[in-house]
Amino acid sequence: MTEQAFIEVDRVEKVFDVRRRTGFLKRERRQVRAVDSISFTVARGEMVGYIGPNGAGKSTTIKMLTGILTPSGGRLRVAGIDPSRERTRLAHRIGVVFGQRTTLWWDLPLVDSYKLMHRMYRIPDARYRENLDRLVELLDLGDLLDVPVRQLSLGQRMRGDIVAALLHDPEVLYLDEPTIGLDVVSKGRVREFLKEINAERGTTVLLTTHDLQDIELLCSRVMVIDHGRLMYNGPLAGLHEAGESERTLVVDLERELPPIDAPAPARVVKVDGPRQWLAFPASESAAPLVARIAAEYPLVDLSVREPDIEAVIAKMLHSSGETRGETPGETLGETPKPPPEREPTT
Ligand SMILES: Nc1ncnc2c1ncn2[C@@H]1O[C@H](COP(=O)(O)OP(=O)(O)OP(=O)(O)O)[C@@H](O)[C@H]1O
Ligand SMILES: [Mg+2]
Repeated sequence: MTEQAFIEVDRVEKVFDVRRRTGFLKRERRQVRAVDSISFTVARGEMVGYIGPNGAGKSTTIKMLTGILTPSGGRLRVAGIDPSRERTRLAHRIGVVFGQRTTLWWDLPLVDSYKLMHRMYRIPDARYRENLDRLVELLDLGDLLDVPVRQLSLGQRMRGDIVAALLHDPEVLYLDEPTIGLDVVSKGRVREFLKEINAERGTTVLLTTHDLQDIELLCSRVMVIDHGRLMYNGPLAGLHEAGESERTLVVDLERELPPIDAPAPARVVKVDGPRQWLAFPASESAAPLVARIAAEYPLVDLSVREPDIEAVIAKMLHSSGETRGETPGETLGETPKPPPEREPTT
């Protein structure tokens, strides 16, 4: 354990027993390995993205980190606390936002939920007032405090939930899809806010999202999970390498021409009238390609487009599936699996 490791996840597993009806009086028992021997650490004050396709095991991981779910194997520590054993003690130190569910009282005005949390968490009065004022200002909720939660729009409710998660000054914030369903303006507001709270208070943030812009704008590091296994853990830039991502050169020629004869691995991927799209490795400079096209074709205009991260991840997961058994560059998918370890249960 490194000293700064604030969140420690060591070969953690979660296996669900699922019973399914397969016919009249027929049931089938099956095990779902939602999290499969995952290890990572998060340092205090870090903002880390946790991404992967539907059903990858992201929410299950977060539920284990809050103590809602008990791991089937491995070791977990958050601020030195074993979440499932000391869930209440940990609750004072963490904040959680599940974008798909609210923790607010549906029929009460927003501010009443906050008052309840004030008491539940025994937040000192002065601290509560100060936090509430600051958070409400940052998230622009002033006009909504007296509105019952059920009357709030999704974006308003989400901001309300974020305030609720932070009133007790948690040291770590788990965000499970905090921007789901939000419009561009609300997303921007939530992102700005997270940046500020991280800079201001040094809050450690673990962020799960399907909106990769959230990650690009907020996280220095990203972890990719697929089928319960950690496939990548490193900087966002490295993900591009692991996914062999490509940039796109868009060129406008004077007139419609056959596809440009480009030096491999660059190649034309689309032609539309005088406009052509060429894909080339993101790790290479566009300059030689541009020079060559400019010398040989009637070039009018050009632009370069950055790779789409969603495509990069899809490609990375796809290629690591194809090369199972080998050791692909920076990805972690094929690390040999250690024998499962179990904590003694009491
Ligand atoms: N309580 C449960 N009982 C049985 N299976 C479960 C339970 N919770 C999750 N699972 C299964 O575990 C797997 C991982 O689910 P999880 O909710 O962690 O995925 P996720 O990465 O959060 O996906 P999404 O992006 O759709 O939110 C899925 O196959 C899911 O069906
Ligand atoms: Mg989920």
